[in-house]
Amino acid sequence: MTASPGSLLIVGARSESGRIDVEIRGGLVARVAPHEATRHRSARGPEGLPVIHATGLLALPGIIDPHVHVRDLGQQHKETWHTASAAALAGGITTLFDMPNTVPPTTGASGLAAKRAAAAALPAPAAGGVRRRFYLGAAPGNVASLHAILAQRPADVVGIKLYMAGSSGNDTVEDPGEMAAFFALAAEHGVVIAVHAEDQATIREAARAAKPGAARPGAADHGMLRPPRAAAVAVERALRVAADTGARLYLCHVSTGEELNLIRAARGSLSVYCEATPHHLFLDESITSRLGNVAKVNPPLRSAAHRERLLEALADGTISTIGSDHAPHAIREKRSPYASASSGFPGLETLAGVVMTLHRRGVINLAQVVDLTSRNAAAIFGLAGQGEIVAGAFGDVTLIDPEQEWTVDPDAFRSKARYSPFAGMRLCGRVVQTIIAGNPQEEAWIEGNGSSRSSRSEPSPSVSSR
Ligand code: NCD
Ligand code: ZN
Repeated sequence: MTASPGSLLIVGARSESGRIDVEIRGGLVARVAPHEATRHRSARGPEGLPVIHATGLLALPGIIDPHVHVRDLGQQHKETWHTASAAALAGGITTLFDMPNTVPPTTGASGLAAKRAAAAALPAPAAGGVRRRFYLGAAPGNVASLHAILAQRPADVVGIKLYMAGSSGNDTVEDPGEMAAFFALAAEHGVVIAVHAEDQATIREAARAAKPGAARPGAADHGMLRPPRAAAVAVERALRVAADTGARLYLCHVSTGEELNLIRAARGSLSVYCEATPHHLFLDESITSRLGNVAKVNPPLRSAAHRERLLEALADGTISTIGSDHAPHAIREKRSPYASASSGFPGLETLAGVVMTLHRRGVINLAQVVDLTSRNAAAIFGLAGQGEIVAGAFGDVTLIDPEQEWTVDPDAFRSKARYSPFAGMRLCGRVVQTIIAGNPQEEAWIEGNGSSRSSRSEPSPSVSSR
């Protein structure tokens, strides 16, 4: 890993606007121009810039993953900042937002300090380390402590995460009045309120309704025990509270057609955005009987019909972003009996392959790939200099070979969690290079590398988010 912002030239990459040459200097994009076939045949560009010959490769603005559970702190057996970051870089992700349901949780000043300290173990973005932002967690009674943090306008905080139901070691805010206080707080400070929208009361009812005397529930019952209705009820309530408070609402991992219809209807009058995960877009509940708890996740995998609705919503722009919901657990925690097995699985290393496969299948075009993997997240969360490859932006680029087919092999994951509901599946589109602040992660890949480092600290981008 290098110590300061890098400079290099990417030649002949495919992009939304045709083939381009991208010059990165001192960690920022200096110039983007239509590809000139006659120039840059050699290993070095102007003034000895290292060159990446990217013919046949796709250059995406560095992928932003707005939903990652890095863990670390009291859960290093699940994942650490080092392993999560290695997984992110392997997956083409240059920025990740870390969720607050850690041990300790990020629900106050000391939790945030602990998280910042743990994340500081990584190299700075200027030196090629993944860019990281944090969510603050809503918890019963902590409105005032979140207010105190947000009043300082911390640049590394993207928003408040609120869970309407229990999931994985998280605090839950069920009471609509208390929910409204967090929404109002987010609105007051101009940050996003990100919501895990499943309704706890509906989940409780589903558990009661499960036939008494019947066999103990197993992984295949997860979707019935956290039913689609729980998601719809929660989204409806969150939309109502957003309307009352003026909060900008970001609904995490939508999984059902009903949620999408509610969101479409609310769009005209509210700032509401939503995220879909690769697993809800690509998989359905039919795999749960085969995979057991490996596929146990909240919200659950749904029917093929719901998955179809999600793909339509991806195509028509209802879905704003793709978040991995990377939720690593130790394999033994997944092997417990259903009721006690952890929910969630790793996702950083499969996100790009799934998105590119959906592109390959004609579900989304290239501009939508950029919208969903970086441009919309940069706009929603106000990340200056991200989401576009333009002069003045951060030199963060994900290079993908769109033709490369590969088989998901969890044994090869950099994450500590080496299992996946995608295991054994063929995907089309593979990340070959992840560049942060002009620093390539796979140094061996670059011709003429080694002489391009400049100043120590990272310059600011000169483009702002929209
Ligand atoms: C997440 C986790 O493990 O932290 N689990 C999950 O099933 N998605 C929590 C969450 O985001 O719900
Ligand atoms: Zn969640």
